[in-house]
Amino acid sequence: MNAPIVVDSVSALRAQVRDWRRAGLRVAMVPTMGALHDGHISLVRIALGRADRCVVSIFVNPTQFAPTEDLDKYPRQLARDLDRLREAGAHLAFTPGVSEMYPAGFATKISVGGPSSGLETDFRPNFFDGVATVVAKLFLQAAPDCAVFGEKDYQQLCVVRQLCRDLDLPVEIIGAPTVRDAHGLAMSSRNAYLGKAELDTARKLNVILRGAAAVLSDGADEAGAVDAAAKALVSAGFQKVDYVAARASVTLGPWQQGHDGRLLAAAWLGTTRLIDNVEIPSA
Ligand code: PAJ
Repeated sequence: MNAPIVVDSVSALRAQVRDWRRAGLRVAMVPTMGALHDGHISLVRIALGRADRCVVSIFVNPTQFAPTEDLDKYPRQLARDLDRLREAGAHLAFTPGVSEMYPAGFATKISVGGPSSGLETDFRPNFFDGVATVVAKLFLQAAPDCAVFGEKDYQQLCVVRQLCRDLDLPVEIIGAPTVRDAHGLAMSSRNAYLGKAELDTARKLNVILRGAAAVLSDGADEAGAVDAAAKALVSAGFQKVDYVAARASVTLGPWQQGHDGRLLAAAWLGTTRLIDNVEIPSA
């Protein structure tokens, strides 16, 4: 595979995408924060199946990190990321610096309602404003026909869909299944922070969620099943559970038995916060 073109300015990105569009090519985008793993690469593959050209952005977006979060220690490994993108066949890597995305005097914020309320927002109040603002910028900069987002960050996927609908952004949003390791642990750049014992515990998150989702779709009492799952996480070794919640799968409003649902959770292992979610099959 050819190495991807690497550009770090919006003007160079626009010029390249404009050339592709003039040639009648369909362009897909995969926004990322780098430290690419098999989950990210699966999105690139899906993008390549849906378009002629694939743009991957690599930008650790400061506006979605709270001051107490891991912005400084978030893994940055551009050379390795570019190797992975070459192997996967991505065409362009957009690697802007912070001053390219947020020049001095930047003063705009996009705040999406609906699916952004609750769950992550209860614990990371400014997170989705940061995500929505950077994703809107990326879409306006690259003007892709479609973009791929992972179900791993299920609430984020719902928020991005809402953003595009509400602002008439002409980008088709494609949701991609969560890529997991052999033990079912969802791949995440933050798994790199986990020690061996923590990794063993982390691998129980998906098992507990899957069990609770099965019980819920069999008709168990929602509050009881959710509470039991949170307790099981603590028994498995998680120090703190931010939430375990059953929600309607599109709106993320209250879930009703017999309807499509999603069971979402966030829990802490030491200083690492993990999130995951599974489908609640509608019996
Ligand atoms: P990041 O965490 O790097 O994730 C980039 C994309 O990869 C997201 O759409 C995420 O859902 C997807 N992804 C991560 N792990 C995955 C897995 N195990 N299986 C499938 N997809 C997975 O999410 C972000 O970056 C940022 O918030 C971003 C959207 C780039 C805005 O800054």
